[in-house]
Amino acid sequence: MAANFLSDFNINKFNIFSNPLKMFFPKKMVGIDIGTSSIKVVEISRWGQGEALENYGEIKSLSLYKEPFINMQKGGYLLSNYFISRAIRAVLDEAKIKTKSVIFSIPDFSTFCTSFELPPMEARELKEAVYYNASQYIPLPVNEATLDWKLIGGTPGDKQSALKIFLVAIPNQIIQDYQKIAQMAGVELYAVEAEAMGLSRALVKENKGCICLVDIGVQSTTINIIDNKNLKNSYSIDFAGSQLNYSIASALGLGHLQAEELKNSEGLTSTKEEVSKTLYMLIDPLIIKVKKVLSDFYLQEGKEVDAIYLTGGTSSLPGLKEYFSEVLKKKVEIPNCFSDLLYPPILEETIEKIAPSFSVATGVARGGLGT
Ligand SMILES: Nc1ncnc2c1ncn2[C@@H]1O[C@H](COP(=O)(O)OP(=O)(O)OP(=O)(O)O)[C@@H](O)[C@H]1O
Ligand SMILES: [Mg+2]
Repeated sequence: MAANFLSDFNINKFNIFSNPLKMFFPKKMVGIDIGTSSIKVVEISRWGQGEALENYGEIKSLSLYKEPFINMQKGGYLLSNYFISRAIRAVLDEAKIKTKSVIFSIPDFSTFCTSFELPPMEARELKEAVYYNASQYIPLPVNEATLDWKLIGGTPGDKQSALKIFLVAIPNQIIQDYQKIAQMAGVELYAVEAEAMGLSRALVKENKGCICLVDIGVQSTTINIIDNKNLKNSYSIDFAGSQLNYSIASALGLGHLQAEELKNSEGLTSTKEEVSKTLYMLIDPLIIKVKKVLSDFYLQEGKEVDAIYLTGGTSSLPGLKEYFSEVLKKKVEIPNCFSDLLYPPILEETIEKIAPSFSVATGVARGGLGT
């Protein structure tokens, strides 16, 4: 595969590069997240010891087409690569992004994430052992998938220490699609990365302990456990933010736009009983799934999570954070993926608002800078 994974850069800096320039992390990187409702792009640069937000942009599918960019029922993209690449080109031009190097995030429903243990071994033996064992854990032939992995527990070289691996597999067909999209959009595909990896990099900082990170978008939701900055579990569930709109629209006999407006401005705190009741009925099953993930993690590792982070556009639903906290009895935050980046203070208010939708794009871009 010509596409690289970011983990290759972190784990094995000298092995994978056909292009020797890639031995050094670039100065600027663009992260692109093709979501259901919109494509988000973020350009990040290195700035002294830190990083700066250079530009960002978003293009909503409804502003261009009548359909979402991605339709899961059809198992992939609803629109052709051609339209997606046109949309990417448009948003890059609009945001005045000249950087050519891009990293695409790959959505949760196109990736398989799992973790497993290997017996004690030396670091140099690890890569081969991961590839050899992967077939037992992924539902597609290893030669039809591209593997990304990370050591998340144990010490290579210590004869007493079993090694824990977090593995992501992406079907080669999907990677080829992204390569075509990049080519048609006139950009260079630097790497691809599963969105869960980008999310955890963007939002979970040093010394935050063990975090359950829930990303609620339009079409799917992921629940991730990140322990001491290591992504340990990632589940994709079928909770769809769009369902909230449909249900409000049908309960109150409203059009899509009116329902969206009511949901976004009042949400669970609405005094219209019909609205809040409808939303609670949909949110409760999501909370039950999060609870299950937390209890499975407790059984697996004997550990409680320290906090819950919510992200994705739907995390801004008024009252959601408080409701999660009340039911799960945990500290709940909606972290800002731009908070440790440098940007003009005038953008503060806008950035605060849009941040939850940009977590994935920001995380994958920062990975390309070596964060
Ligand atoms: N204040 C708000 N309250 C509730 N929902 C909101 C609010 N603001 C935006 N949203 C919802 O966020 C969603 C967009 O989120 P996001 O950009 O994370 O989705 P996406 O990445 O396109 O979807 P997916 O990840 O499922 O492909 C829309 O459904 C929108 O209605
Ligand atoms: Mg998304």
